[in-house]
Amino acid sequence: MKTPIHDFLVKYAESGNVRAHMPGGKGIEYPLDITEINGADVLYESCGIIRESERNTAGLFGAAETCYSCGGATLSIQAMLAAAVSLTGKKTIAAGRYSHKSLINSAVLLGLNVKWIYPDTFLGADIRPEDVEQSIDGDTAAVFVNSVDYLGGQSDIAAISEVCKKHGVLLLADNAHGAYKVFTGDHPLSLGADMTADSAHKTLPAITGTAYLHLADSAYLSAAKSAMSLFGSSSPSYLMLDSLDLCAKYIAEERESALRTLERVRELKAELISAGVPLYPSDDMRITVDAAAMGYTGEQLGNLIRAKGAECEMCGNRYAVLLFSVVQPEKDFAVLSEILRSIPRTEPVEIREIPVIRPEAAMTAKEAYFSAKKTVSVKEAVGMICAGINSPCPPCVPIVYPGEVISAEAAEAMLYYGITEIACCSL
Ligand SMILES: Cc1ncc(COP(=O)(O)O)c(C=O)c1O
Repeated sequence: MKTPIHDFLVKYAESGNVRAHMPGGKGIEYPLDITEINGADVLYESCGIIRESERNTAGLFGAAETCYSCGGATLSIQAMLAAAVSLTGKKTIAAGRYSHKSLINSAVLLGLNVKWIYPDTFLGADIRPEDVEQSIDGDTAAVFVNSVDYLGGQSDIAAISEVCKKHGVLLLADNAHGAYKVFTGDHPLSLGADMTADSAHKTLPAITGTAYLHLADSAYLSAAKSAMSLFGSSSPSYLMLDSLDLCAKYIAEERESALRTLERVRELKAELISAGVPLYPSDDMRITVDAAAMGYTGEQLGNLIRAKGAECEMCGNRYAVLLFSVVQPEKDFAVLSEILRSIPRTEPVEIREIPVIRPEAAMTAKEAYFSAKKTVSVKEAVGMICAGINSPCPPCVPIVYPGEVISAEAAEAMLYYGITEIACCSL
């Protein structure tokens, strides 16, 4: 696999040219850090080395086109929603309720109407195809689904895609946690999604902030690129583009090694289960430990794991999540196995389950966000209209969205997740 961006950057760094251009570091600490100079292409109108690299990546993912993002999957999500609006002329999105906050950020920025599809569990992303079908009407531009979610839950993308195709609406998948599925054959694109937002940096060897917007049809490209430039910086980082370029080479050449690492995650899961460590069912790239069943809160378990030399991706009230990558060093598996098997189990802890909360909308997210507002304590906020975006992080999923009335139940859930203040409409 060729690496057109990397080759250009190395050649430029070696040329010794006087850098009478941005960035201000002048290549002293980071020789490959340049800007869109002559020959380096332009990210949002790519037709040279960036385009060549994006085409390489698209081929690997089975996409018709891929747009690189230097603003994480967050930017890819904003862009795919904006592209869906441009392509359909409609502004209603049917979305899984517990989507990452980038969905609601986009709703505020684009003035979207979001019709929520509720899962069975609080903060779960798994929505049913029949509920998706119910949510679609003549105003629907697209269905937005998060799969994989933070605990490793997944939606049935193939069945949801059938529903979307039957009704002629686009299917947009938040695949931020599932870029590694390029190796496993169940990437949402191959299951029928029209566009997917994948963080390269979460599960592939690419630096923080790198992501893809994959498109199933090249007819979406112009709307997607235009939408990326609507939200993205006009100075995209070439260190990130370099990393995405090298990541394509990794995907093309290291398939066996990546599959072996995925196998190691499965083996570790099996080993832990047979040692009696209680696990929550998750996708192939993470191990979600049911800390409560071991006698701890997620946070307590996270502290015990940290004291023994490992750091978790997330420690919630009930779970501790270990997130892997295709380049996870082999030695880590034995260390994690030893740590988790050595932590004593005690009496299970009762964890309060938060119910699925269905707040009532009083106005759109955009109207509420840009209204006159004041920040009040969550207790005082009961009965008021939410005007801010507060989310327990991770998983960065808001409990109440701007425009919704804060019920006593929602306030309780926010307090439970450590949110004590919230912006509310003041008029
Ligand atoms: C489900 C989900 N979607 C989207 C994002 C945003 O991804 P990024 O950090 O690449 O912007 C995240 C981040 O954690 C996420 O968990």
